Amino acid sequence: MNIIIFGPPGAGKGTQSNFIAKKFNMYQLSTGEFLRKEMSENTLIGQKISSVINAGALVSNEIVSDVIEKVISNSKYQNRIIFDGYPRNLNQARNLDELLKKYKQKIDIVLKLSVKLTTIKKRISERQTLEKRADDNAEIAIKRYETYEKSTEPVIEYYKNLNLLKVIDGEKTIDQINKEISDIISLI
Ligand code: AP5
Ligand code: MG
Repeated sequence: MNIIIFGPPGAGKGTQSNFIAKKFNMYQLSTGEFLRKEMSENTLIGQKISSVINAGALVSNEIVSDVIEKVISNSKYQNRIIFDGYPRNLNQARNLDELLKKYKQKIDIVLKLSVKLTTIKKRISERQTLEKRADDNAEIAIKRYETYEKSTEPVIEYYKNLNLLKVIDGEKTIDQINKEISDIISLI
């Protein structure tokens, strides 16, 4: 089983993916975490992307596609991947389809966490005090939200047409959402 988890910044993608990964013995592939690690280690990729991330925009498809292929092609992770933060635009969605086909896999379900902008702002400002993520200030968070609306929302339609989409109320408590997602996954 492979899963995609979608949602605007601060929707709870990371929180819920982490939980699913542990409970169902899956691998959480967070492109955001991967990119932040590159920045904290000041690698060549990290140096290239920090201005893009801090503008709330998307980094190039090539950079993320490489890491996605590495994971999909690794037999250790076969059919047990949670995509947290990928795909984020239609080109990435098509790329993901091709890679999955190449390595004889598929997506089983796409979960979308729906959350209001007011909730997003509140969660991100709370997290900023805890995690000190550079892109968590109010101004960049709004840019990330706008990027989500413009580039990522169209991808949701793509998966809806493939009958894979499940929309989840991301305003509920973490535990309630955990349970809802577990129930959905248990039925696959
Ligand atoms: P990414 O790291 O993916 O950031 P994001 O999409 O903005 O989402 P967040 O990680 O901020 O939020 P989340 O949904 O994971 O919520 P969380 O569980 O942490 O991407 C960062 C950047 O990297 C992008 O802007 C882009 O530049 C680049 N990037 C990444 N992927 C890319 C790609 N594929 N292509 C190109 N560029 C890419 O929860 C948030 C907070 O709320 C936490 O403190 C949590 O404890 C709390 N919380 C969670 N759920 C609840 C709940 N139900 N009730 C109350 N509090 C909750
Ligand atoms: Mg996250």
